[in-house]
Amino acid sequence: MWETMRTKRLYINTMGCQMNVYDSDQIRNRLASLGYVPVDAPEGADLIIVNTCAIRDKAEQKAFSFLGRLAPLKTVKPDLIIGIGGCVAQQEGRKILSRMPYVDLVFGTHAIARLPRTIERISATRCRVVDVALSEGVEAEDFVSGPLVTSDVSAFVTIMRGCDNYCTYCVVPYVRGRESSRAPDAILDEIRHLVNHGVREVTLLGQNVNSYGLKEGLPGFDQLLEQVNRVEGLARIRFTTSHPKDLSDALMHAFGRLEKLCPHIHLPVQSGSDVVLKRMNRRYSSGQYLEKVARLRQIRPEMAITSDIIVGFPGESEQDFAATLELIRQVRFDSLFAFIYSDRPNAPAVRFDGKIAEAVKKERLQRVLAFQERITAQKHQAMIGDVHLVLVDGPSKHPSSTADSPPSDGQSEPGQWAGRTGGNKIVHFAGEGQAGAPNQILTGRMMPIMIERAMAHSLWGRPVPDPRASAVEGEPLCCIKPAWPV
Ligand code: 5AD
Ligand code: SF4
Repeated sequence: MWETMRTKRLYINTMGCQMNVYDSDQIRNRLASLGYVPVDAPEGADLIIVNTCAIRDKAEQKAFSFLGRLAPLKTVKPDLIIGIGGCVAQQEGRKILSRMPYVDLVFGTHAIARLPRTIERISATRCRVVDVALSEGVEAEDFVSGPLVTSDVSAFVTIMRGCDNYCTYCVVPYVRGRESSRAPDAILDEIRHLVNHGVREVTLLGQNVNSYGLKEGLPGFDQLLEQVNRVEGLARIRFTTSHPKDLSDALMHAFGRLEKLCPHIHLPVQSGSDVVLKRMNRRYSSGQYLEKVARLRQIRPEMAITSDIIVGFPGESEQDFAATLELIRQVRFDSLFAFIYSDRPNAPAVRFDGKIAEAVKKERLQRVLAFQERITAQKHQAMIGDVHLVLVDGPSKHPSSTADSPPSDGQSEPGQWAGRTGGNKIVHFAGEGQAGAPNQILTGRMMPIMIERAMAHSLWGRPVPDPRASAVEGEPLCCIKPAWPV
């Protein structure tokens, strides 16, 4: 008994998307019951877990290169347990054990609930384990609300997992399994638990949140949002990711109705060419996408829209690529994530002809990024003089040498803070309280900030008196309503 409850050090390296960030928190919470406490470095840890991402080839290579660097640690500390989890583990399974003899455990995306038992077994017997079974639905016990290990203002909450869309470039349906949704009560309980621990903003996570609950006959996503909106003490709601084909009228109207729902949507378009969209199996046209964007802006004019683009999908001609630039020109996204297409095992596009040369893909990526950079800069400039409600995340962490430093003598000043607008723009400002300890004075507060300066990836502003004279501190405030300048 003493042996299992002895304090042990756990190091987790989390790669990839917010789902993995959430999963790593679940892993920490579960392993706390075995006496594992998180540490910041792999050296000296008793258990190392690498939570991997397989979405693009580059991410997978990064995971293997990190794992390669762990081999010497095992030589120094033979009782160290090394586990690899997440999407690469799910995809490669047993193959990892033969490729890396020092890895003790390969566990898939649905194996987290079983992890404590698996680790106990490995500790007791030093056996090597592969656990990559995928289940059909989600069970309540697949998720735990453990003691919070972060003091964050903002937290992720997984509301569904898996994906049934089968976009032809994408590995997710193969590594995260079939789409399945959590029951609303479990989600609401988790959010209340987070709020009781000081969290003020939640981001609801799923590969395609718009189809939340459809399979299970649960209330739809807009109804779930309505219930989350009623959680006392919660200030802001965000969600990601949305599939444009499933973006319903009801959800669009939720943006006009729910005061805590931030005016921001991440709506990956992937391409502006209808031919490419068809080959990607996205099941919408560029025209339908533009219509949804227009509708969203009609309902909530200050709506920030961000997106994902893939360049160099097999068969993408110069004309197809020009259509993507044209769509970007028309939408004027607030920001974009652009990726070079890479073949993924299992995804059908591996077998598509018309593969694009690396040099062409790189050149297209640069063109997309440069184009978007100009749009973002213009949008940031246009915000100067406006007042935005900013939810303060904590002291600013910007290095003084970046282009995003606030206007100063180049030093990182004490008393500088960072937060986000409802539209998810990062704002730095100088405020009361020192950025060194004790520094919790502004963290978690919703502050009106006048934007004074625009930088490439963020904004700089100054706190102004709260014009909402009737506002009560602690009252849920999300973002600027139409009466405010936006
Ligand atoms: N190659 C490049 N980008 C990809 N994405 C998904 N699969 C691939 C791939 N094989 C991108 C998409 C998706 C984002 C999370 O990653 O743009 O929206
Ligand atoms: Fe992948 Fe498409 Fe599912 Fe998104 S919707 S996770 S891109 S298959």
